[in-house]
Amino acid sequence: MKRIVMVLFVLLVACSFAFAGGRTTPGKLDVGIAMPETHVQRWVKDGNSLRDEAAKRGYRAEVQWADANQATQNQQIQSFLTQGARALVIGNINDGVGSVVAEAARDKVMVVAYDRIIQNSADYDYFITFNNFKVGQLQAQSLVDSMNLNAATAANPKLITLFAGSPTDGNAFFFFDGAMSILNPYIDRGVLRVIGPYPRSSSDTANFMRIATENWQAPLAKTRMENLLTNDARAVTLDAVLCPNDPIARAVIEALKADAKYRTRLPFTSGQDAEFDTMISIRNGEQTSTVFKDTGALAAAAILLIDQVMKGQPVNIPGAVLASGDLREIGNTGRKYVNTYLLDPVLVTRSNINAPVDAGFFTAAEAAQLR
Ligand code: BGC
Repeated sequence: MKRIVMVLFVLLVACSFAFAGGRTTPGKLDVGIAMPETHVQRWVKDGNSLRDEAAKRGYRAEVQWADANQATQNQQIQSFLTQGARALVIGNINDGVGSVVAEAARDKVMVVAYDRIIQNSADYDYFITFNNFKVGQLQAQSLVDSMNLNAATAANPKLITLFAGSPTDGNAFFFFDGAMSILNPYIDRGVLRVIGPYPRSSSDTANFMRIATENWQAPLAKTRMENLLTNDARAVTLDAVLCPNDPIARAVIEALKADAKYRTRLPFTSGQDAEFDTMISIRNGEQTSTVFKDTGALAAAAILLIDQVMKGQPVNIPGAVLASGDLREIGNTGRKYVNTYLLDPVLVTRSNINAPVDAGFFTAAEAAQLR
């Protein structure tokens, strides 16, 4: 009897090592990768990079994109769970993802919130993203520098219009608050005036909703810019437009170009994601800046995080910092603080336009067109 107990004990320990060792089970999925949408170019790249990184580390992985529809993404995640996935990487659309995250927690499946926090959930422990407050600061700083705001006077203030991202995406609030932390002092001094709604921060919900772009749908931003041009901004010439990401910046620029007033000189515009089309636009002197977030590095870091946790190793992600101090809020789901790892974003303007190319962010064919 003692022997049998001993054998069972050894088997049990061996099994738990097999799991902790991150070994794969034949026929089963290891990592399910759920990406939110394809209408923003970056997510196509993110999904492919995550799948490749998982494969490199010997995990069986599958990726699905959800077309900005949370019900679709929940079905995709459920299918990953049915296939026996032991880890999930989720770039969610909205907090409706919470129900499947709770299911994953019940099945002891590791969940990593990828780039976007999973709000209103206490059922997961890890979030990997960029310093999103800094993303906003970089966007605003590029506009401040381009407008030469430090030399502006209250007698002749510069004029700006504000756009924000999707109110369903926690990142949108950090991008905006980071930007306003840079812009508000100039607005207070009277050297910068906001045309259209002016939420001083994202906590002014009513005004924030007026400048927000549901589900990051760039056509909505284009329509809003067109409306501004015929209403609030009709009698003035704008110097800058705060745009939260590249597709929105390009949509805003399209609307501006249709207005005779801006045909020879566009307002300065910010962006984010270093999308290929935007790199061309920056090179051509249309969009002013973008924020380069090395999503290849983010994908590698997310898979490394999974690998280390599944093997029971201490988490150590080169190039990422564990959010602490003020940045700890980035990891606040509203229900708990999750362990949050932050990578560093980089501002790109015409003067350092090769930075993402040099980092290997583009395919060889794209890089050839950009150099
Ligand atoms: C990401 C941005 C992206 C946006 C729209 C945000 O959560 O951080 O990189 O532009 O979603 O997809």
